[in-house]
Amino acid sequence: MSTSGESVLRTQVAIVGAGPSGLLLSQLLASQGVDSIVLEKESPEHVQGRIRAGLLEWTTVELVQEAGIGARMMREGLVHNGFDVAFADSGHRIDLKGLSGRSVLVYGQNELQKDLIEARSAVPGAVLWQVGDVALHGIDTRAPRLTYVHERHRYELNCDFVAGCDGFHGVCRAAIPREKLTQYERVYPFGWLGLLADVPPLHHELLYAYHGRGFALCSMRSRGRSRYYVQCPLEDKVDEWPDGRFWEELEARLPERYARQLVSGPSLEKSIVPLRSFVTEPMQFGRLHLVGDAAHIVPPTGAKGLNLAAADVRVLARGLVEFYRAGSPTLLEEYSARALKRVWKATRFSWWFTTLLHRFSADPFAERLQLAELEYLAGSAAAARSLAENYVGLSFD
Ligand code: APR
Ligand code: PHB
Repeated sequence: MSTSGESVLRTQVAIVGAGPSGLLLSQLLASQGVDSIVLEKESPEHVQGRIRAGLLEWTTVELVQEAGIGARMMREGLVHNGFDVAFADSGHRIDLKGLSGRSVLVYGQNELQKDLIEARSAVPGAVLWQVGDVALHGIDTRAPRLTYVHERHRYELNCDFVAGCDGFHGVCRAAIPREKLTQYERVYPFGWLGLLADVPPLHHELLYAYHGRGFALCSMRSRGRSRYYVQCPLEDKVDEWPDGRFWEELEARLPERYARQLVSGPSLEKSIVPLRSFVTEPMQFGRLHLVGDAAHIVPPTGAKGLNLAAADVRVLARGLVEFYRAGSPTLLEEYSARALKRVWKATRFSWWFTTLLHRFSADPFAERLQLAELEYLAGSAAAARSLAENYVGLSFD
C-alpha cells in the first residue's frame, strides 16, 4: 500500500544493482522489448571506477554483442589464444585455441561497465542512481513491489519480477527467508594484492606463476597497461606494500626468462582482495531471481566472476523473454537449476585452479603434490585440455 507522499511507478522487471549483471540484463531485455528499471545505490562514477578482472569468455563476448553494445569491445579487446603457467623456473604454454577451439578476450570489466552505463543512460529513467533504502515486498506473490528513496522522495515500484543484481552485500538475497536458502562457503587463507600500472605487459599473453614465495599473475588491460597480482597474507594492508616492495616481490616469483622482461612503474591503483568461494541455493524465491555476485562468489583465479554473472543473465533474460512473448513460465521456473549447473562447474574450476597455484601452509607433502600436478599439466595433453576447456568457458547445455 502506498503511503502519502509516495509516488507509484510500474515496470515489468525491477532490477536492483547497476553492476555488470543489472545493466547487461536491462540492456538485453530492452533489445527484446521487455521493460525494466534499474535501482543503484551508488553514482555512475563510483560504479565505473571499481577495478575488477578483465577476461571475457567467448560466450560472454557473444552475449555482449547480442545486447548491441559490443562495438568498442571488439575494437579494443585483445584476443588471447593461450596463456603461460610457470613453476620450477620454467614456463609452459596452455594453447587454449589448439586445445579447446576457442579463445578469450582481454577487456577490462570497467570498460564493459562504461559501455553498459553509456547505453542504458541514453534511455531516460532506465537507471536510477544513488537510490536509498531499497526494500522488497511481496516477492512470493504475483505482484511484487520495491520501495526506495530517490532525490529525497519516496517511491513505490510495482513490477512482475525482481532481479537481484545487487552483489554479495546487497539486500535481495537477505529478503529471502533464511530457512529457504542453503549457503556453501570456502574462505581461503590468503589474499591477492593487485597493482595497475601504465607499463607494457611483460608477455603478450597472461602468465600464472606458482612459486615457493606464493602465487603471482601477470595480466593486462591493454598493450600499454598492466595488471599484476601477488598472493599476500590476509592481514596485510596496502600501506605495507609501497610500489618498490611489490615489484621486487613479483620479480622474485617469476622464472628468470620472464623476470628480465618486467618493466616497473608507478602504480595507478593498488588493492588487496580476500579470496572466497560462495554459492547460495536456490537462486530464486517466488518472483525474485538472484543474479551474479548476489548469488555466488568465486576466487579471482581464472576470472570467472563476471563470466558467471553474464551466464546467469543469459538464462534469466531468455526466461523472461519467453514469459512475455509466449506466456510460458517454464524457463523462468528452471532459472535456478539451469544457472546453478554452470555455477558449480565454475566454482569447482576456480577452487581447483586456486589450489593448484597458491602456497597454502608450509606442508611439504601438499607442496610435492602441487608440483606433481603442475608437471602433469605441462606433460599431458589431456590434463591441459581439461584446463583449457574450463578456462575458455564450458558450453551451455
Ligand atoms: N540498493 C541498490 N543497489 C545496490 C544495493 C542496494 N541495497 N546493494 C548493492 N547495490 C549495487 C552495488 O552498488 C553495485 O553497483 O549493486 C551492484 C552490484 O554490482 P557487482 O558487485 O559488480 O555485482 P554483479 O553485477 O553481479 O557483477 C558480477 O562483477 O562485481 C564483479 O566480481 C564481480 O566479476 C563479478 C561481476
Ligand atoms: C585480471 O586481469 O584482473 C585477471 C585476469 C585473469 C585472472 C584473474 C584476474 O585469472
